[in-house]
Amino acid sequence: MRILGIETSCDETSAAVVEETGAPATPWAIRSNVVASQVAIHREWGGVVPELASRQHIRDICGVVDRALAEAGSTWRDLGAIAVTQGPGLVGSLLVGVSFAKAAAAAAGLPLVAVHHLAGHIESLVLQNGELPLPSIVLVVSGGHTSLYLVERPGTYQLLSRTRDDAAGEAYDKVARLLGLGYPGGPAIDQLAKSGNDRAVALPTTRLTHADRNAPELKGDLDFSFSGLKTAVLRHVRGRQAEIAGTNLDLARNGVAQGFSPALSDQEIADIAASFQRVVVSALVDRLFVAARRYGAKSVGVAGGVSANSRLRADLKERGERREVPTFLPSLALSTDNAAMIAAAGLRKFRAGHTASMDLNADASLAL
Ligand code: KG4
Ligand code: ZN
Repeated sequence: MRILGIETSCDETSAAVVEETGAPATPWAIRSNVVASQVAIHREWGGVVPELASRQHIRDICGVVDRALAEAGSTWRDLGAIAVTQGPGLVGSLLVGVSFAKAAAAAAGLPLVAVHHLAGHIESLVLQNGELPLPSIVLVVSGGHTSLYLVERPGTYQLLSRTRDDAAGEAYDKVARLLGLGYPGGPAIDQLAKSGNDRAVALPTTRLTHADRNAPELKGDLDFSFSGLKTAVLRHVRGRQAEIAGTNLDLARNGVAQGFSPALSDQEIADIAASFQRVVVSALVDRLFVAARRYGAKSVGVAGGVSANSRLRADLKERGERREVPTFLPSLALSTDNAAMIAAAGLRKFRAGHTASMDLNADASLAL
């Protein structure tokens, strides 16, 4: 069976055709995965502008779906179902995908499957690597989420912890903006950190032990927090700018007073990027492996946009080898938002007997 996946939760319009292979180890094969990125549109504004995003999804969705079908050599008649991201995400963006999927399902007489965006990210690991040894601990780390899940059986996801404030990707994007690196910040910091000294700047690691008031059922010590780190980077940069201005009387008298930011050297910016990245990646990898030990995991995985990060990928592999736990990552193309992962999660749900009705609505804060 072939399934069409549709993803429009944020700033990527994507459609994909995924096919069941019948092989238990590698259940799904990607026949096409078309992604129209809106990065060029949002870059100008330094971040995603929701209204511009939904309008662009409307412009792109028909062409993206047509192309996904054509690249897969499929017609509507070859499909067995349509899967769509129901949430979480930007509601205007989600509505474009959900409305399109409902209309297409009605017109083609196909069942509709509603998919949680993070279930898609988790299933990107299976799409890439085949079924994971279970139980598995999966870290989903993106622009909107930083959460640890326990997967005990295929298609079940138990939330163990999450960020109390910023998501890791969000911290990357904010720090990148502060350093003048543009949007999206993750890839820019990742690249620059390669030429920086990751011990140059002492930045705090946040430890959380108390329970979260909003989620008292969770113990709390596996939670994440990145807003303190972001503030520490901000303080460091402002402090250095004041020092630089202080050594230059003209700047001190005129420049700073007029709101001009004295420039840090390229090397200093690279050092800050590398130091920030070291702290973020170690916070992510440390908690992942604490959870793996606690739950006797037979594998660990990292998915979501930040899983494209080169240091995270390297550190995960290294730690997994040391602890003798197999580690799993999606390919770079499957790390950031794409519809193939939504199609995969949709197939899993469809086979478990879950379809959606025609009154399906987008849900910006859908729980998993
Ligand atoms: O999963 P995703 O495409 O969209 C969301 O669901 O949020 O993740 C996007 C996030 C952005 O914050 C971006 O800066 C981050 O993933 N990202 C990275 C890298 N590539 C993308 N962060 C760190 N290093 C990267 N190489
Ligand atoms: Zn995502």
